[in-house]
Amino acid sequence: MTQKWNAAAALAAMGLSLTGGVASAQQKLAPKKQLTAQAPAAAEALLRTPEGYKLKETPFPDFGYMVSTQDYLNKYSDQPIFRLKTDFPTVKPKKQPDFVQKIDFRKNPKEYLLAVRDYSFDGNLPDWDPFKNTKRGWYHIPWLHPSTEGPNAYPPNGGTEGFHGLIKEAPLSPLQLGPGQKGKDGGYSVYAITLVNDMAGYTLGRMWADPNNPDPRATDRRYGGGFPPGTVFAKLLFTDAPQGDDQLPFMQNPLQWTAYITENFWKSSKRIVTKVNLLQMDIAVRDTRADGPGGTGWVFGTFAYNGQVNNPNKFLNLVPVGMMWGNDPDNKVNTTNPFPPTETKVNPDLKETVIFPSKELPPQHLGWNGRLNGPADLNTTSCLSCHNAAQYPAVSSLVPDGAVPDGGPKPPPQGGTAEWMKWFQNVPAGTSMDQRVYSTDFSFQVAIALTNFFTVKGKELQGNWASDYQLAPVPITRGFPD
Ligand code: HEC
Repeated sequence: MTQKWNAAAALAAMGLSLTGGVASAQQKLAPKKQLTAQAPAAAEALLRTPEGYKLKETPFPDFGYMVSTQDYLNKYSDQPIFRLKTDFPTVKPKKQPDFVQKIDFRKNPKEYLLAVRDYSFDGNLPDWDPFKNTKRGWYHIPWLHPSTEGPNAYPPNGGTEGFHGLIKEAPLSPLQLGPGQKGKDGGYSVYAITLVNDMAGYTLGRMWADPNNPDPRATDRRYGGGFPPGTVFAKLLFTDAPQGDDQLPFMQNPLQWTAYITENFWKSSKRIVTKVNLLQMDIAVRDTRADGPGGTGWVFGTFAYNGQVNNPNKFLNLVPVGMMWGNDPDNKVNTTNPFPPTETKVNPDLKETVIFPSKELPPQHLGWNGRLNGPADLNTTSCLSCHNAAQYPAVSSLVPDGAVPDGGPKPPPQGGTAEWMKWFQNVPAGTSMDQRVYSTDFSFQVAIALTNFFTVKGKELQGNWASDYQLAPVPITRGFPD
């Protein structure tokens, strides 16, 4: 009963009725009293928007998973509703970000990384909402809302949630973050939300110019595609760890968001409203000074959250971990730092990764033989060894055989073999690791988006494409159940 009443009242407050059509101005105002009596928070939120209901603003759905409209209005209306921003620039922006022009990332890597952070924060804090950014245009990647389906589906019950647009990303292995993280049944999860700057937005606009017929050539160099120099991606990663008896000192004093996520990573498809804690921030910059040899054309960097830094602006508790622009393809030494990480072991032999140990930096496991990887990432890979494999359709797995399960006391026996080293080459920007398929130019979200789109479109058209039978697809997966 109450549910029905609320739905009708909510629609009425937005200027609509259940029978359709826009209500008159008088009707719009009428339900104020009723609403206030029944659901004060919801009523206030709605009545604050004098323009009323906004018709669907993008051709793409905003999110995939959310509590019911009634529950949102009654219980969570103090929380944001995620809106996808896809008003991409149609003309290539003229100016690259200042740091790309002014700071040499090889000479002053930390300065560069902090400048990327400041640029990504500028106008996007505290809500990480590009609609509120009055300084610069930032955008989202469309088509991350559905759960990938089929035999190769990953992650289970993924797809974005409706408070902050967080996409289900990866499980955490026990002890991955530190000695105090034993884990929970079904596993802790990592969820993330990425913003892209105007340069990236321009390329996405070309890809999605026709929202019903995306063009994968937009990110592939062979067709004149690829993200332009000055492209920046910035991604915040959140986790539901630690819970129960688990303790992680650097996760005290957390930056928390409310999110609608699965109870655990692997076993449950039931979504719950719960708090998640900021764990990591990743950035990726297309910088021509990183073009090979000795680089990929991309600079990747990461930050780890440390609540004990205790900055009043909690986003500034993100401590730089390191940066990489190449995979050090000639270095085949097979070592890993086992879980749990207790100290950050820097490998001084690497020429294309730099790590910034400091007293603020929580102990890091890093990646294979000390290459850069973040707290939520595998200790057997690196940012770029994985992102090399971003392509559509996905036919190269993200990690070499033996890279998972990760975290064990010994490095994988395959480490350093010719087959393994295929993932540690410096694949140039806009180039696919496998020439048969399109490069999504180091962006996995673009690869996931295209996979989602064509899966859904095939179903809608009730048909298949012959091209799908040419290649054996692989899941865009980072892990397997323990
Ligand atoms: C095991 C594979 C893997 C590793 C290692 C990895 N990533 Fe990713 N990354 C992904 C996948 C898959 C996505 C897309 C889904 C998502 O957002 O999580 C992604 C998304 C991203 C994005 C959003 C843009 C995009 O579309 O790709 C950024 C930025 C990023 N990663 C940076 C990093 C950085 C920096 C590191 C190292 C600290 C790193 N990644 C390590 C697999 C990986």
